[in-house]
Amino acid sequence: EKMSYSEAIKKADMSVSRFPLIPVRGIPLMSLIAKNWDSIWAFRPEPSDLLIATYPKAGTTWTQEIVDLLFHNGDAEACKRVPTHVRSPFLEIFCPPPIRSGLDQLKEMDPPRIIKTHLPFQLVPPGFWENKCKAIYVARNAKDNLVSYYHFDCMNMTQPDPGPWEGYIPKFMRGELAWGSWYDHVKGYWMEREKRNILYLFYEDLKENPRREVERIMRYLDLSVSDEVVSQIVELTSFKNMKENPMANYSCISAAVFDQSISPFMRKGEVGDWRNHFTPEQSKMFDEDYVKQMKEVNIPFRTLI
Ligand code: A3P
Repeated sequence: EKMSYSEAIKKADMSVSRFPLIPVRGIPLMSLIAKNWDSIWAFRPEPSDLLIATYPKAGTTWTQEIVDLLFHNGDAEACKRVPTHVRSPFLEIFCPPPIRSGLDQLKEMDPPRIIKTHLPFQLVPPGFWENKCKAIYVARNAKDNLVSYYHFDCMNMTQPDPGPWEGYIPKFMRGELAWGSWYDHVKGYWMEREKRNILYLFYEDLKENPRREVERIMRYLDLSVSDEVVSQIVELTSFKNMKENPMANYSCISAAVFDQSISPFMRKGEVGDWRNHFTPEQSKMFDEDYVKQMKEVNIPFRTLI
């Protein structure tokens, strides 16, 4: 008999909270992911599977909701049937039993499956590219991504403690956070996007004109929904509506895992919040390093310098 996710979390041994990071081919990953790496790498996707890939906190959940709604022709009830992470499993996640791994959840799902991953390009199971699966990558500007990740690491009891803010910036710059370097992540997918037919999106574009971006995703997925349905999807996936939707705001995950009293999952949802966090000195140090780390590619991030 299947347990609900919240029941499973209550029964799971979360005493090993704040899992240490263990490198897999040089990328620091949560220990349970690293220990199960071979089964993740061997995952065989279906050609109809859609991959949504992001560096953590770049707009994953938002994109998952948009895609799920597009697959369901904007049906508001369909996207409230179960939580986001059940509708769209997290490929590499392994939690203490009896919480089911992403791989186990995927085994029980009918196509078309929407699969979330934070793996950098080189760690994505090769079956995705062999089967010519579609993939959407979402990138968010480095400083806002860092700020969002900092608040998330404060409230996510399964990831290493972020420590004080001023020490977090260099950790981000050195790629010492879970899933590794932001710089390598955004560059890795950027360099492969044409060869692998990856739709490469930006969080800032979604904020600027969500309708345009929803239509872009729709075309990429070879779907065609009416203008009214596009409007409805934009409305249902607004920050305000997702923050209030218990099936999108991760409120069903117990406070032993996501302590939303520390920082809500749907925190601010804005562009430029880094200005409220970085001092001018921190910003200068970050920008100088950024230019060096990003010099070999020209990814059109809106410069927020
Ligand atoms: P902030 O911490 O800056 O608020 P992910 O889903 O990849 O974990 O990303 C989470 C970030 O995306 C959070 O950023 C969250 O608030 C933001 N987000 C989630 N849904 C959003 C939406 N509908 N509109 C804008 N931002 C959203």
